[in-house]
Amino acid sequence: MKKSLSTPKDYILGVSAKAEYQLGILNDLYLQRFLSAAVSLLPKSISKVLELGCGSGHLLSALLPYLENTHIYATDVSKERLTECKLRLGETGSNTLDFTTLSITDTDFEICHDQDLILVRFVITHMKNAQAILERIVKAMKPGAKLFIEEFCVQNEFIARGETFGYYEWPRAHEFQEKLQHSHFDVGMDLLAALKKNSRFSIDLAQINQPILDSEYRKSIIRLGMQDCSQELLSHHFGKEKLAQIFTSLEMFERDAFSFGLAPRSVCIFGTIRDEK
Ligand SMILES: C[S@@+](CC[C@H](N)C(=O)[O-])C[C@H]1O[C@@H](n2cnc3c(N)ncnc32)[C@H](O)[C@@H]1O
Repeated sequence: MKKSLSTPKDYILGVSAKAEYQLGILNDLYLQRFLSAAVSLLPKSISKVLELGCGSGHLLSALLPYLENTHIYATDVSKERLTECKLRLGETGSNTLDFTTLSITDTDFEICHDQDLILVRFVITHMKNAQAILERIVKAMKPGAKLFIEEFCVQNEFIARGETFGYYEWPRAHEFQEKLQHSHFDVGMDLLAALKKNSRFSIDLAQINQPILDSEYRKSIIRLGMQDCSQELLSHHFGKEKLAQIFTSLEMFERDAFSFGLAPRSVCIFGTIRDEK
């Protein structure tokens, strides 16, 4: 039976099994490109790594083979995510793990002080004051430490039969999701601009990540949010007729053998905290 979600906060946290499954697919799409750049920029020895908003541990489990004798701090606002993270990470080799419930919007960032590497990935998208939060993280970090970020910078686009299809409908649905989650799916470029101006931060590499949804399996992602949001809320926002049109165009998109989708573009930023002058 479909799990109904009680509050928008539950939805942000991706508590439902379906949301977790879909976030898992999304992670497959985005992770490889982020990971190959991250691994090439990892310092030789890292004593401490912190992930803020680690979710169910997709990124940490992919990084684990590249870490040795490292103390890993996995933090998230959701206890459920941390439990899943623990399960996903399993054997940690010579590394040690620490799981802490922590909300980025309710911390003094003291935990950031002596980390050699901090990871922030697809989490400040969910924050109203993303830029201010990022600047507080940079301020709290020690010189020489690395900060690796990935956040969304552009919304989805779907293309079928040679025309951009669903483009006019989907952003409207997305707009609603953004309001519901207090998320900003175009926050990435603002963060990049802010970090460029930040005298404590030196950008080692910045790149755009553009996953393409090209199989039936992956196309199901277009339903992320729409299935989990209550239909009542959606119909209240769009009106029943508009909502029916949105669903029809998404269904047509899914049936079209030649259609493909561009998942939201993201920006990956890899940088180092400068020495104090
Ligand atoms: C899309 S997941 C990203 C997971 C992980 N960073 C990765 O790359 O696989 C977003 C995570 O942000 C967490 N989150 C949302 N609001 C948060 C907050 N205020 N403080 C800390 N984590 C938060 C959610 O619980 C969720 O696990």
